[in-house]
Amino acid sequence: MSVAFQQCINPDCRATYGVDEVHVSCAKCNSLLDINYDWSKANPPKSLTFFEKRWATKGLATQGRIDFSGVWRFRELMPFYNTESDIVTIGEGRTVLQNADLLAKQLGMRPDHLMLQYEGLNPSGSFKDNGMTAAFTHARMVGAQKVACASTGNTSASLALFASLSETQGIVFIGSGKISFGKLSQALDYGALTLQIQGDFDDCLRRVRQIATEVPEMGIYLMNSVNPFRLEGQKSIMYRILEARDWQAPDWVIVPGGNMGNCSAFGKAFMEMKELGLINKIPRLAIINASGANTLNVLVNQYGLKWNDGRYDKETVGKLYAAMDESHYKAHTVASAIEISRPVNLPKALRALAFMNGVVREVTDEEILEHRAMVARWGFGCEPASAASVAGLHKLLDEKIIGKDESVVCILTGHELKDPNATVQYHTGLDMKSVQDLAPKAEPKGKLANRPIPVEDNLEAIIRAMGGDPEKLKGRSLPM
Ligand code: F0G
Repeated sequence: MSVAFQQCINPDCRATYGVDEVHVSCAKCNSLLDINYDWSKANPPKSLTFFEKRWATKGLATQGRIDFSGVWRFRELMPFYNTESDIVTIGEGRTVLQNADLLAKQLGMRPDHLMLQYEGLNPSGSFKDNGMTAAFTHARMVGAQKVACASTGNTSASLALFASLSETQGIVFIGSGKISFGKLSQALDYGALTLQIQGDFDDCLRRVRQIATEVPEMGIYLMNSVNPFRLEGQKSIMYRILEARDWQAPDWVIVPGGNMGNCSAFGKAFMEMKELGLINKIPRLAIINASGANTLNVLVNQYGLKWNDGRYDKETVGKLYAAMDESHYKAHTVASAIEISRPVNLPKALRALAFMNGVVREVTDEEILEHRAMVARWGFGCEPASAASVAGLHKLLDEKIIGKDESVVCILTGHELKDPNATVQYHTGLDMKSVQDLAPKAEPKGKLANRPIPVEDNLEAIIRAMGGDPEKLKGRSLPM
C-alpha cells in the first residue's frame, strides 16, 4: 500500500481505494470515505514545532509558494499528493487568531480566554479555501477538467476562484433566492457557469452528485465536502490555531455546523495528531446549528444519536429524513450559509463529537443576528452563519457547560462583506435584497457579463444548461 489511500469509514466495510481514483462515496457500501495514511511510510514530524521553520521560507520560489500557504506549510500532515508540483495554491489559509477581550467582557468571560479564528480573511473570504486547495490538488492529480459543486454560496465562490486561477471549468449549482449577493457576485465575476436551480441547497447537492456519479460522460469532478480531499485541507484550521497559541490546545473549539465538513475535519486533525503523539490535550468541540436547520441538534439531543464506533443508528436518521420529506420540511434561516437539512457529513460529525467529547446546540436567527452585531461592534465582523459559534458560546456559558475561565476559540467561517444585506437590515430595518433583486428583464451591459442561468430542478434541463446532450439520457433509468 502507498503512503496515502482512500478508506471507507464504515467499520464493517473499510474498503480502500487509491488516491489516484475519484470517488464521492464507498463503491461497495456507499458510506463516506476518509483519506488515510500509512504513517510508517510517510515522514511526519516528531513535534509540531517542526513547522516553525516554514515561517522563514515564504518567498516566491516553488518551495516558498507552498510554505506561504497556511494549509501546505503543514503538508507533512496531509501527504496525499504525488509531487509538490501537484499542489494548487492561491495563498490560502493566512488567517488570524485574535484575542477578543472586548467581546469576552460582554459575555462575562475573563480576558485572554476568548479567541476568534478569522477564516473570512482567506482569498475568497471564507474557510472554504482551506479545503478547495486540497481538492483542486487532487483534481490536478487525476486530470479533471470540469469541477462542480452545490453551494449555499461560499463553496461556489471558492470553487470559482480556484477554477479561474487553475484554468479549469467551474460549474456551480445554487438554490433560487438562497444565496447572499456577496457570494453570488464572486461566482459570476470569477467566470463560473452558475446554475440557479429551482430548489434549495439539498436539491442542488442531490443533482450535482447525481450528475457526477451517474452521468459520467459530463466529466464532472465533485468539489463538495463529501469529497474527502476537501477535508484534508480543512484540518489546517486546527493546526493554525495551535500554532497561534504556541502549540497549546484551547479547552474548546466552537464551529457552526451546516454540511458538517468543517467539524469533521477538525475531529480528524486531532485524531491524527494524537495518533502521531504530537498532542496530548484534545479540546472539546461544540457544533452550533441554526434553529431553522437543526438536523444534527435534533438527532443528537432529542434522539440520542451517537457515533458508536461507526455503527450509529441509521434507522433513526432514515426515519427523521422520511418525516421531513412527508411534511415537506425545508430548512430556513437568516444564516443562509448553513441552511441545510441533510448534512452529508453527519457520520463524520458524530465521530468528531465522540473523539472530542463534543456537544451540539442550536441558536435562533435573532441570537445569530445579535451575536453577529456584537462580533462586529467589538472586533472585525463576520457573516451571520459564522456568528452562530459566538451565539452558541453564549448559550453554553449560560448553561455552565463552558466555564468562564476556560479557553475558547470560536471559528468565524466567513467575511462580514459576504452578506452586507443582513448587516444593513439589522441596522436599518430595510430589506436591501428585496429592492435589489435581480430584475428578470434587465440586460447586462458589461463585456464579461456572466448571468446566472435559471434552471428547473430536472435532470434533462440541468444537463442542457451545462452544455450536455439530454437525448443521450434516454433509455437510462435515472430519476429526472
Ligand atoms: N459557515 C459558513 C460561512 C459557511 O459557508 C458554511 C458552509 C458553514 C459555516 C458550515 O460549514 O458545511 O462544513 O458544516 N457553507 C457551504 C457552502 C455549505 O456551500 O458554502 P460545514
